[in-house]
Amino acid sequence: MLTIAIRAARSAGNQILRAVDSVGQLQIDQKGKNDYASEVDRQAESEIIRIISKAYPNHGFLAEESGRQNSDSDYIWVIDPLDGTTNFLHGFPQFAVSIALKNKGVLEVGVVYDPQRDELFTAERGGGAMLNNRRIRVTRQTSLTGSLLGTGFPFKKQQHLEPYLGMFRALFIDSAGIRRAGAAALDLAYVASGRLDGFWEIGLHEWDMAAGVLLIKEAGGVVTDFSFKDKFLESGNLIAGNPKMHQLIYQAIEPHVTDSLK
Ligand code: IPD
Ligand code: CA
Ligand code: CA
Repeated sequence: MLTIAIRAARSAGNQILRAVDSVGQLQIDQKGKNDYASEVDRQAESEIIRIISKAYPNHGFLAEESGRQNSDSDYIWVIDPLDGTTNFLHGFPQFAVSIALKNKGVLEVGVVYDPQRDELFTAERGGGAMLNNRRIRVTRQTSLTGSLLGTGFPFKKQQHLEPYLGMFRALFIDSAGIRRAGAAALDLAYVASGRLDGFWEIGLHEWDMAAGVLLIKEAGGVVTDFSFKDKFLESGNLIAGNPKMHQLIYQAIEPHVTDSLK
C-alpha cells in the first residue's frame, strides 16, 4: 500500500510541477475566507484517487476537494492533493502532496511529496520514517532556547487570532526562530526529519495532518492536541515535536488555550 501511495503522490506531484509556470491562467475558486482551490488541486486529487482505486477498488476516501467516498470501508485514504495552495498560486515554492491510509481508524501509511525538491517523506506504522529512503529522526533539542519552531497562522479562522498571538509571543521570546512556511504537511515532515524542533497550529483539517503525524510518530516524535490528548485529527489543533520539545511547547501555549481550542 505504501508503494501505491508513493506512485500516486509522485504522479500528482508531477502534474502540479507541470502547472507551476502557468498559474496565472488557472481557474481558481474561493471555497471560504482565504481558502482557494484551482483546477490543479482537483486534477491532482482525481489522479491520486484513480491510481489508488485501480489497486484497491473497495477502499474509501476522505479527500479535500471531493470529500468522502465509500466511508464504510475499513481502509480510508486521507488525501490533500496540494497542500500549500496559496503558496502555489503565488509561485512561492513550498507545497506538497499528502496521502495517508487509515485502517479502522489507525494510521498505517503516510507519504508527503515535495515535487520541486523531489523530496519523498514516507512512513509505515512500526517501520520508521524515511526521506528519499533514508531513515529520519526528530531532533534531540531539549530547550526552547536555540530551537527552530514552525507554525501556521489561523488565517481562515481569525476568531482565534488573540489566543494565537499569546501563544506566539510566549514561544517567540524563548525560541531562536519561528517559521511560517505555508504548507502544514511539509511542516510536519520537517519536524519528522529534524529540520524543525517543533510545530503548532490551530484549525487544521485531517488531510493536512494525517500523513505528517505518522511521519513524526515513526521518527520518534510526539503529537497531541491542545489538551495533551490525541484528538487533534478531530479538533485540528496540534502540537508536535520530540518528547521534550512537545512538552515545552505545550507548557508555553497552555495559558492561552481558550475553551473552544480544547
Ligand atoms: C493549508 C496549509 C497551510 C495551513 C492551512 C491549510 P491548503 O492547506 O497547510 O499551511 O496553515 O491551515 O489549510 O489549503 O493549502 O491545502
Ligand atoms: Ca492542506
Ligand atoms: Ca489542499
